[in-house]
Amino acid sequence: MQVKQFRYGEDNLGYLIYGKKYAAVLDGGAVQEILFFLHENNLELRYVLNTHMHPDHTMGNKKLLEATSAEQLEISDLIERWSFKLEGNEIRVYHTPGHTNDSIIYYFNYILLSGDTLLVGKVGRCFTGNTEIFLRSIKLLLTLPLETVVYGGHDYVREYMATAKLIEPDNPHIDKFLEKYNPHHVVSTINEELKINPTLRFNDKKMISILRDKGLPHNSELDCWRSLLSLTQGG
Ligand SMILES: [Fe+2]
Repeated sequence: MQVKQFRYGEDNLGYLIYGKKYAAVLDGGAVQEILFFLHENNLELRYVLNTHMHPDHTMGNKKLLEATSAEQLEISDLIERWSFKLEGNEIRVYHTPGHTNDSIIYYFNYILLSGDTLLVGKVGRCFTGNTEIFLRSIKLLLTLPLETVVYGGHDYVREYMATAKLIEPDNPHIDKFLEKYNPHHVVSTINEELKINPTLRFNDKKMISILRDKGLPHNSELDCWRSLLSLTQGG
């Protein structure tokens, strides 16, 4: 089972999960490119999936369903089922509310498709306003193996790394990460995220002292998380 990333719009990232014969598309806004890839590789599209129902992620659904014999797997059903199978391989689904209430992530074989819950270098905006539940969702992702590959729903890497550098100018991992950043394949690992993504470092001693120096709440994990959200999301 493999994953191919498709960039579309200004900075959106969609994905095709595929095996030898069958494929599932996730946030497939790059309709023409996806149909071409399916054709070129003799793949049959089985499922149309989303990480959440924001329109920039669902905009390709209708056309993909019309152009193929695929069926849409609804987010609410996936939350209840916890998984689905493609070519006999189980793809796990976890409900991760925070960015939106319907946000889910997909995981299989050390690959995480995290939509706008976890983007490369930052977490998504907390549109639900429930930062406590969002933290619970993020902590669930952080239980995945460190070598897990992270594929997010947008490419804001340059912008996010600029923010990370403002918070922690002497972090050497940020420049290293930018050196290997490739806009045609935007990817990280959980291990890298823990080094470059300031929002995930609510338990990191150095980050906690940065928060203290800034006069921001830092006495509990939740305090630190909220302070880091305020630093990285401006509110
Ligand atoms: Fe979104």
